[in-house]
Amino acid sequence: MSAFANADIDAVIEQLTHEEAVSLIAGVGFWHTAAIPRLGVPQIKVSDGPNGVRGERFFMGTPAKSVPCATALAATWNPALIHDVGARILAVEARLRSASAILGPTVNIQRSPLGGRSFESFAEDPHLSGTICAAYIKGVQSQGIACTIKHFVCNDQENDRMGYNVIVTPRALREVYLMPFMIAQRDAQPWAYMTAYNRINGVHGSEHKELITGILRGEWGHDGMVMSDWFGTYSIDEAVKAGLDLEMPGERKLRTQNNIERVVTAHKLAPSDIKARAREVLKFVQKCAKGAGDILDGDGSERSHDTPEEIALLRHVAASSIVLLRNKGGVLPLDKSKLKKVALIGPNMKERIINGGGSSSLRSTYVVSPYEGIVNALGNDVEVIYAEGARSFKSLPSLDFELTTPSGERGWRLSWHNHSARDPMTPIPEAVREMDVDETYASLSDAKTDGLTERWSIRFRGFLVPRPVDCEFEFGLTVAGRGKLYVDGQLVIDNWTRQRRGTSFFNRGTEEERGRVQLKKGIKHEVVVEFMNVKGPADGDEDEIVMTDGAAVRLGGAVVVDEEREMEIAEQAARDADVAIVVVGLNSDWETEGEDRTTLALPARTDELVRRVLAANARTVVINQSGSAVEMPWADDVSALLQTWYLGNSAGDAMADVLFGKVNPSARLSLTFPRRLQDTPSYNQFGSYGGTVMYGEDLFVGYKHYIDRVLPAHFPFGFGLSYTDFAYADLAISSSTIKSNSAADVQVQVSVKVSNTGSRTGSEVVQIYVAPPLHPLGEPQPSRSLRAFTRIEDLAPGTSQMATLTLDKYAFSAWEPQRNAWIIRKGTYGVFVAKDAEEIVLRADVTIGSDIFWNGL
Ligand code: BGC
Repeated sequence: MSAFANADIDAVIEQLTHEEAVSLIAGVGFWHTAAIPRLGVPQIKVSDGPNGVRGERFFMGTPAKSVPCATALAATWNPALIHDVGARILAVEARLRSASAILGPTVNIQRSPLGGRSFESFAEDPHLSGTICAAYIKGVQSQGIACTIKHFVCNDQENDRMGYNVIVTPRALREVYLMPFMIAQRDAQPWAYMTAYNRINGVHGSEHKELITGILRGEWGHDGMVMSDWFGTYSIDEAVKAGLDLEMPGERKLRTQNNIERVVTAHKLAPSDIKARAREVLKFVQKCAKGAGDILDGDGSERSHDTPEEIALLRHVAASSIVLLRNKGGVLPLDKSKLKKVALIGPNMKERIINGGGSSSLRSTYVVSPYEGIVNALGNDVEVIYAEGARSFKSLPSLDFELTTPSGERGWRLSWHNHSARDPMTPIPEAVREMDVDETYASLSDAKTDGLTERWSIRFRGFLVPRPVDCEFEFGLTVAGRGKLYVDGQLVIDNWTRQRRGTSFFNRGTEEERGRVQLKKGIKHEVVVEFMNVKGPADGDEDEIVMTDGAAVRLGGAVVVDEEREMEIAEQAARDADVAIVVVGLNSDWETEGEDRTTLALPARTDELVRRVLAANARTVVINQSGSAVEMPWADDVSALLQTWYLGNSAGDAMADVLFGKVNPSARLSLTFPRRLQDTPSYNQFGSYGGTVMYGEDLFVGYKHYIDRVLPAHFPFGFGLSYTDFAYADLAISSSTIKSNSAADVQVQVSVKVSNTGSRTGSEVVQIYVAPPLHPLGEPQPSRSLRAFTRIEDLAPGTSQMATLTLDKYAFSAWEPQRNAWIIRKGTYGVFVAKDAEEIVLRADVTIGSDIFWNGL
């Protein structure tokens, strides 16, 4: 273990020079903190997060495990399981990548399912969100690895994320948006927080003294570090004064020796302000040194490793997150022994979709596609017919498995070239570096090469795997820089001469440009992309810009198909089969960091495909893959419907486990699925208008809105079926009147009998919602909120079990802005046992005798 683990921080601070203190309060490179070898202070590595640990590189990264996305983790309603995932998968992955801290979990709120990163946050409800988040953090930190809970706070949409100003009332801020952080702080004490990019009531997250120093450190007692989001530090003295300890990353940093000297000379900051921030960084590094000691003593390199136990746990958590939304006539589970022919249909059936897009994405060690999982489970005795039916990609799919290098391996060959000052537009033919890679999505800042001139080029060269028949093939080329695609020496795409700026590559790139070629049966066609790290001219933006970082290329492609013909093939397959299984949904292009969705509709002709398959075979099972809600206009007509989120590496196996009854589904929706976008709480207020995002729905987020408006959801929050049935009886509460004046005495035990009235063993989620008394001034407030839940595991048919839950001060409190305190208002509260947010099954009352105020946690 690094000797720094036992160092006396006061003594280190004492010896720290001002310059050393300055170096500590900003990162080094993209992922590291600064070391001070003279004082034995080690450097630590941080890594994204949250659904796995990617390591230092986006491009050709170290293969890693991916756990299901956060909405899926929350859909398990199982904190014990998520603790296990944290301890046995995520912490282990961090160690394999030599990272002391995970940049996660993300615990923002789905104000709208359109949020590009909705998949990355747990739930629309703060209690479920905070509880699952705390379990994740406790699990990871129990193994000595730090969590960095993010993004503090109100980073609930992507468009304009660095600039927009969230206007939010004090009650909504406290009760909805801060609450998951508050629960995590109370239950799990994350070692670090990451601030949000955006402004909250006029002040950027990284400069928000009231939030960082007032609430987080003052009221909640956070005794850990606060870092900025990447390039989310926008000021020098204000951020330091607000309490922002660490600017990340170290590239293009503001906290340089020069800049700090200026503000210190101007007395905007005192050297002691810098040391105060450096102290928090040192305390954090010390915690990591104690917790993850062997990492800090290690070689810093990255490794991959999957044990059978880890693979089994990934499969188990993925299956535990699948929500059964419909099961007409008990179509599911499918009995394999009665099946002769199964049609496997849909745009997502053969895709390797494991997670959403952006900084949480990673290169996986293994992936089981839905097709592979289902076919494996079916075995050899059942005939399988496959049809894609319709397409749902946004940009053309990667060619990772479609290209070979000049020497015949999977992938293509890259060669880097310098430019001479005399002829800056022409690459020098002799390569600075050459390498073979097997990815066609290349984030090139990760793959920087020593010895490059400021302007450089890359030539990518590979061969398309020969086709079995003559066909037309469409390519798509997206760049942050300039690119051209040649096939067999012919220019097919020019994304160089004139560009269309787009949202790709964290908003640095172009739109995808497409081009088609005729491919000949059996021929290895040569594919070459020429790329330069200079943005070309675009309409409204005529300058050439040399990209010192963020250069990137993506090449995709697919055989051009006759869409109508594909539909007919799918219909025929469904007609010929005993059962049709259709996998539809989104992917990491549709749901991604950096960009919000504009519609809840499934892409292209997906809805039509489902309807046509359904008409061809009434025994159709639909599986939807998305990290957040989508519209499913056909859902009331299908026999069986599963919501499967993004399930991580084991996606296909987990789906098969539920389809064939190895797992009896017990997950519940972590967010509402509305019938239409127009029904959502923040409709017309989601988006940055003139730089403002108005949280006008106030407290009515998620199901609270649908209940208030008497607007039934398509599938409500908390909803999910099982292959068995449950009944509730004998609701009892420990006290129906609370007379004490102390918030600590507000403790109500709730018990209820749960019986399995069906014919299979199954698990039930018991949900308790609390309804507050009317507000004395008639202020609108949600009629009920989720305040407690528990699971009854593996209840055998015909048996019963008591569920016991506790309602404490959090269950009865509202924020009282006039007093700047929490209030437990006197009056009578309804305590509801519910199957989901809409379906109440039992009710009791609790009366609080007098108003009680409290602060802190
Ligand atoms: C994201 C963070 C992430 C960071 C580092 C930012 O773009 O908002 O969540 O941790 O990048 O990749």
